[in-house]
Amino acid sequence: MRNILVTGGAGFIGSNFIRFLLAKEAPLNIYNLDLLTYAGSLENLKDLPEDGRHHFIQGDICDSDLVKNLMKEIDFDTVVHFAAESHVDRSIFNPGQFIQTNIVGTFNLLEAARTVWLAEPAVLNNKRFHHVSTDEVFGALQPGDPAFNENTPYSPRSPYSASKASSDHLVRAYYHTYHLPVTISNCTNNYGPYQFPEKLIPLMILNALEGKPLPVYGDGLQVRDWLYVEDHCEAIYRILQNGKIGQTYAIGGNNQPGNIEIIETICAILDQLQPDSIHVPHNKLIKYVTDRPGHDRRYAMNIDFIHQELGWSPAKDLKSGLYETVLWYLNHPDWVGAIRNRGDYAQWMQSNYTRR
Ligand SMILES: NC(=O)c1ccc[n+]([C@@H]2O[C@H](COP(=O)([O-])OP(=O)(O)OC[C@H]3O[C@@H](n4cnc5c(N)ncnc54)[C@H](O)[C@@H]3O)[C@@H](O)[C@H]2O)c1
Repeated sequence: MRNILVTGGAGFIGSNFIRFLLAKEAPLNIYNLDLLTYAGSLENLKDLPEDGRHHFIQGDICDSDLVKNLMKEIDFDTVVHFAAESHVDRSIFNPGQFIQTNIVGTFNLLEAARTVWLAEPAVLNNKRFHHVSTDEVFGALQPGDPAFNENTPYSPRSPYSASKASSDHLVRAYYHTYHLPVTISNCTNNYGPYQFPEKLIPLMILNALEGKPLPVYGDGLQVRDWLYVEDHCEAIYRILQNGKIGQTYAIGGNNQPGNIEIIETICAILDQLQPDSIHVPHNKLIKYVTDRPGHDRRYAMNIDFIHQELGWSPAKDLKSGLYETVLWYLNHPDWVGAIRNRGDYAQWMQSNYTRR
């Protein structure tokens, strides 16, 4: 029986990963350590099979005693580390929390793994610490620049990406210094079910449904490389199964539209799915707002390496992924209601877009 510690498993990607893993593998125990910040919710886990394989622990990765005791108590063979503060806008207004969670929290997990796992070097062959990171650590590309890959030098430009870059460096340092069996993945923008509606795609879907303005930063021509969340889960799974210890894997969607194109596509899907809405055409709700400070212009990822090594490439194209995502939000009004009534959502959305 495998024991897997998933941190941040009540968030967007973590909850999708747990769902994916439970469907993929029968004999395993998943221990989901999540603080349930504004971004995490048990609502994201409600539809998991109730067969005793998922164990939720509410706790903070910054609490070093808690993390160490958990690692001592349960013989984990795998740690998959998602927990983070993940929203760039919030990092601009409250960077301190990003330093704590993303850097200190990752350090605590590494320290716990070091003290517990390295005490018995014989068992190390069966251990893995996988760190989930972002393409934003590489900085921004100009039009025509080659896409990022595993060897791109780090050049983070926001408190979020700087804190994730620091955590990547720590993970790599624990591999080189202590031979901790680590892998790292740097992934591009994810989208799909259960994404908190402060991020671009769910924000646009939900605002459009309510007839609220669709705020577009700057000229809307920022380019992101979009990946359907389930494809990200599959990539992580393959890294856990066959990835090389100490290796970093670049993961991306091979989809690089401008933000405005994404928003126009969502509007067109909603026009099709909700033809009787008084907001048709939904794109009349688009409203250009002052750009985010230091907004990175373009991200793109070269995924040749993970394709060659692990045979992974994205299965879902952007058009069908967006269609399914819009449909998911339309079909889950209870989830949307619960999420919107939580924490500081309304206040944050109001202040973030009116201060611009
Ligand atoms: N969303 C993306 O597009 C994307 C792309 C590449 C990489 N990533 C990385 O993937 C990971 C997950 O991203 P996401 O979009 O699911 O984030 P999210 O914000 O939806 O979820 C983060 C989760 O971490 C939990 N958490 C926060 N602080 C914690 C703490 N101190 N202790 C325990 N739990 C805590 C939250 O409660 C939440 O459940 C992050 O590390 C992020 O940097 C995200």
